[in-house]
Amino acid sequence: MSIRLGVNIDHVATIRNARGEKHPDPLSVAKKAFSYGADSITIHLREDRRHINDKDLKLISSIKSIPLNLEMASNSQMLKIAIKHKPNFVCIVPEKRTEITTEGGLNLKKNNNKLKKTILTLNKYNIRTSLFINPTKQDVKISKLLNAKCVELHTGAISNKIKKNKEYINYFKKIKNCAKFAKSLGLEVHAGHGMDYKTAKILSKIKEIQEFNIGHFIIGESIIFGLKKTINQFKKILKR
Ligand code: PXP
Repeated sequence: MSIRLGVNIDHVATIRNARGEKHPDPLSVAKKAFSYGADSITIHLREDRRHINDKDLKLISSIKSIPLNLEMASNSQMLKIAIKHKPNFVCIVPEKRTEITTEGGLNLKKNNNKLKKTILTLNKYNIRTSLFINPTKQDVKISKLLNAKCVELHTGAISNKIKKNKEYINYFKKIKNCAKFAKSLGLEVHAGHGMDYKTAKILSKIKEIQEFNIGHFIIGESIIFGLKKTINQFKKILKR
């Protein structure tokens, strides 16, 4: 069985916004990516709307045949938006305005009550909820207590090691142990951040991981080789 591939198209919007016009259009790219084999489309509606905006969310979520994973911060405003557009999945992520990208997993202890409320509401609306966490057993345990359905393990640290050809085995073991533990608790396991072909190949050896969410590398590689070839290449790697 293959690992599912979620294609994050935030950076299509980044390129569009650089000109403030309409091209390239995230909706068209979402449709194309799905037709080329993406299992779902991921978009992150940031509070500062630096890439994906409300109109993108409205248009993409209206295409019900494309499974949509909405990444969002846990607050009442975003929760209202999620309920309005009913994406299939929500991945709750930490958000800092000054960061370039989502630099780490959620602080589950600090935000426990807020997260609990958000997850309870999303569960009520049958929106599958995932928590973007650092790969620690403690965070997996808290995610289960919070009633999340899935955890997405942050792969930024291991991806950096692999890209720099540095020793990554301890990071790999940590992710593998967390994935095993999460599965044993009945959580579905996802992984994402900073991944490329090499990272995907290495992490696909962890049989408990069922989904990867990959963005920046796919959009970057597509500029050179095209979206279809890039998605096909990932699909080959994710077959196991
Ligand atoms: N998963 C989550 C939860 C993310 O926040 C991001 C970045 O938006 C990704 C996956 C994709 O990361 P990248 O763009 O580095 O592939």
